[in-house]
Amino acid sequence: MLLAMLLLLLLLSPDSQTAHGHPLYMRLSPSTLQVLSAQGTQALQAAQRSAQWAIKRVLMEIRHRLHDCQAGPGRSRPQGPLLQDPPEPGPCGERSQGVANVTRAHGRIVGGSTAPSGAWPWLVRLQLGGLPLCGGVLVASSWVLTAAHCFARASNELLWTVVLAEGPQGEQAVEVQVNRILPHPKFDPQTFHNDLALVQLWTPVSPEGPARPVCLPQGSREPPAGTPCAIAGWGALFEDGPESQAVREARVPLLSADTCQKALGPGLRPSTMLCAGYLAGGIDSCQGDSGGPLTCSESGPRPREVLFGVTSWGDGCGEPGKPGVYTRVAVFKDWLQEQMNAAPSTREPSCRELLAWDPREEEPSADAQELCAFYARRCRRSERSCAQLALQQCLQRRRRCELRSLAHTLLGLLRGAQELLGPRPGLQRGVPAPARSAPSLREPPGHKDREQRLYSGSRVAGTWFQKPKPERRKETKGCPGLEPLQQKLAAIQGAHAWILQIPTEHLAMNFHEVLADLGSKTLTGLFKAWVRAGLGDQHVVFSGLVGLEPSTLAHSLPRLLVQALKAFRSAFLTEGEPQGP
Ligand code: ARG
Repeated sequence: MLLAMLLLLLLLSPDSQTAHGHPLYMRLSPSTLQVLSAQGTQALQAAQRSAQWAIKRVLMEIRHRLHDCQAGPGRSRPQGPLLQDPPEPGPCGERSQGVANVTRAHGRIVGGSTAPSGAWPWLVRLQLGGLPLCGGVLVASSWVLTAAHCFARASNELLWTVVLAEGPQGEQAVEVQVNRILPHPKFDPQTFHNDLALVQLWTPVSPEGPARPVCLPQGSREPPAGTPCAIAGWGALFEDGPESQAVREARVPLLSADTCQKALGPGLRPSTMLCAGYLAGGIDSCQGDSGGPLTCSESGPRPREVLFGVTSWGDGCGEPGKPGVYTRVAVFKDWLQEQMNAAPSTREPSCRELLAWDPREEEPSADAQELCAFYARRCRRSERSCAQLALQQCLQRRRRCELRSLAHTLLGLLRGAQELLGPRPGLQRGVPAPARSAPSLREPPGHKDREQRLYSGSRVAGTWFQKPKPERRKETKGCPGLEPLQQKLAAIQGAHAWILQIPTEHLAMNFHEVLADLGSKTLTGLFKAWVRAGLGDQHVVFSGLVGLEPSTLAHSLPRLLVQALKAFRSAFLTEGEPQGP
């Protein structure tokens, strides 16, 4: 934080304009503007991605629905709220032909044998800020099971992504956003008791893709000690060693509770943990494999892999006498079903869901009511005030989510600011301003007549901002539930049209100028400022508040950023409206 403060102090180079020796205006330095611009660009990218995900998710729902309808009557899924997971497609635990026999008993993660591509279609990789941290197991089209300890330091779903399995022919792995993280409520980070977490994906896995769910145990019965089971992951090749670039796999036998307890002492709680491996050592899971699968084959006409363990901890890796420890999945069967089948109104909406929703409409739409149903769950039908309060609560949480996502952007940026700004930002001395009452913002050539100075809104004109073409509707007759989905799709496309139509390569926000009026200090230590920003060849001008000391500046930047985003959005919307007389 101290570093950040120092950095900001450097950034704030005075470019003041004077009258009779007294400064009147101060311009934020180019390096500060650069920081703001980079942040703005990140925010734009995040907004575009989030809109794209929201659309992808609905498209996926539409595809599922159409698929059901084509399958004929009687096979159609029950109508449910949109945010509920689609029921599981097809079978589970099936490995593609040709890879099932490849895993040999001598394969190992520590020391390692590489798994053939697509050998473990349910194995996923959990990434925090783009860096792989843990393994995970796809247990349903929208759910990944992993270890709770993976989220010990960062449980904000906005920071995590899941990389799905690649295909048997090396088809590329898909990266999916995380919608919700549900660590087991009784997970104990000291003892690793109940080390299990469910992760809900933002977009369900495509039934056509290579990723497929594993089977969950049906009852509480587990295979007997000695059963050879499989582990897989990208974890370390040996203790404190490098992580693997490719998926590795190994066969490990299950050990009895007694053997586990004797080997690992009181740290092992047989009620929720099982152990597997070789007392001779050498073959084991290791750091980075956590959250990954321990599966055992169930024979039958079509062999299936069933998930009995989730990689949790160990004493070193592959040490003699120290088998690896796995969370027992079968004992959590009820908790898992309860979480995955929970009605949307019984859980608080996630930040990702709330941020994908545009709450600007006056009347809360059916969508908003559905999204915010959790807060109204105790309201009686007739109580309007209760419903209104619930909506306010929901909006409040959305604002907190907005701040949280912005805070992350800001923090990430501050971390990268040193690099961005180079060794020492130069000071820029100002040009005297002509008059105090009318700060003049230097207009870029050719844009002056297209701009309009506004206090809370703005207007732009330009080339990218064309209304999106309305999505062509497919025939919906005979397919119940398709119409509302298409309406939802159109609503999302409409609400996010402004950001969706900007080509990704043009998503760059530029703060051209922030000019603070030094005579306008507020009680909170902020100054009135005129901000001029551009998005491609679009320009907006608005007024806001800016701090001129490191701490107040740091606090005022996110707000300027949000204002700029709003200005661009409302500029687009204003432009799209029919012109009045
Ligand atoms: N806790 C480790 C992780 O976070 C998994 C360790 C497994 N160790 C073992 N010896 N089996 O990745």
